[in-house]
Amino acid sequence: MAGCSTTIAPCDHPKSREIHSLGGADHHLASAGGSQTSSRGGSRGSSAGRAAGRGRSRVPLKVPSIELRSPAEIELLRAAGSLAALALVAAQRACVAGATTRDVDAAAHQVIRDGRGEALFVAYRGAAGNRPAYPSATCISVNEELVHGVPGPRIIRDGDLVSIDVGVRLDGWCADSATTVCVGTVDPKHRALLACAQAMLNHAIRASVPGRRWSSIARELEQIAGDAGFAVAVDFVGHGIGRELHEPPQVPCSAYRSFVEHADFTLRPGMVLAIEPMVVAEKPLRTIGGELASPACTLAADEWTVIVDSGAVSCHFEHTVVVTREGAEVLTRADRAQIDLVSNLPDECAVDVRRVG
Ligand code: MF3
Ligand code: CO
Repeated sequence: MAGCSTTIAPCDHPKSREIHSLGGADHHLASAGGSQTSSRGGSRGSSAGRAAGRGRSRVPLKVPSIELRSPAEIELLRAAGSLAALALVAAQRACVAGATTRDVDAAAHQVIRDGRGEALFVAYRGAAGNRPAYPSATCISVNEELVHGVPGPRIIRDGDLVSIDVGVRLDGWCADSATTVCVGTVDPKHRALLACAQAMLNHAIRASVPGRRWSSIARELEQIAGDAGFAVAVDFVGHGIGRELHEPPQVPCSAYRSFVEHADFTLRPGMVLAIEPMVVAEKPLRTIGGELASPACTLAADEWTVIVDSGAVSCHFEHTVVVTREGAEVLTRADRAQIDLVSNLPDECAVDVRRVG
């Protein structure tokens, strides 16, 4: 029906009834009720969605249903995406040696307010709703902080790799985007890490055509990281996004077994996904079972910041995209947001992204 969302079940394989969650703290966690970037401490499995029992099975299959967005909804998501992109650009500009991570957060937050959006991360409590309310508009994760760094008094220094993640809700629709900034002179190895994660995100976007299984794309992503000699943060996954920050499906950047067996899905026009490779500058390792191992991480005392145990630096890139018949359209493209600003808005401070795009 035109103008309405439709839903589909991502996986109708009988085994999908075994969907389980790994339990624990949720970060961008993939967890019951939806998918978020998750850690092994967190849950990658998802048990969200409607039951999809079929045939002779008496046990309803717990398969997360994925919303397909209408053209009108995609238009609204575009506006949210443009505002998130503008906020991220402002944060990037503020991310200089000597600034605090709180300064960077403030820059993004101001753009969100000016655009009459809502800072999506503020007061977020995780999918299970049992975590301390997230205090800021952005997550700012420096060097060995992998994701969900809480902005504060930490001073950014020359040579730092600073990951900035921002979420926006505008007119009821959400967008989520992240980038990693090199501050000043950065170790060439760390630049290579950034290039690798960017290549993964670009590859995922180009590969996101209707009819493809996500697992086949995820396998290519882990290959790109492996070839570069870097470790994918396997335990953290991207997610569907729409009216909420974290919706089904989970969108991993590696083809780990339980995803392939129980949570895989086929790309369809109208799916809106937050794709977010997180990569660590350490060698990729496999478990005895042959699975790609996630770098060991610890949750900081603030119960949000995820820190790589080895101290290796990490990076994070994220775009919100919509799958169309022609391929993926990036909703959080900074260049489009900036072009919109230049061509449509006389005053850079009075951002009304709802009129543009
Ligand atoms: N992009 C991150 C995610 O998808 C944003 C996390 S917001 C936070 O999980 F509030 F949970 F930190
Ligand atoms: Co996200």
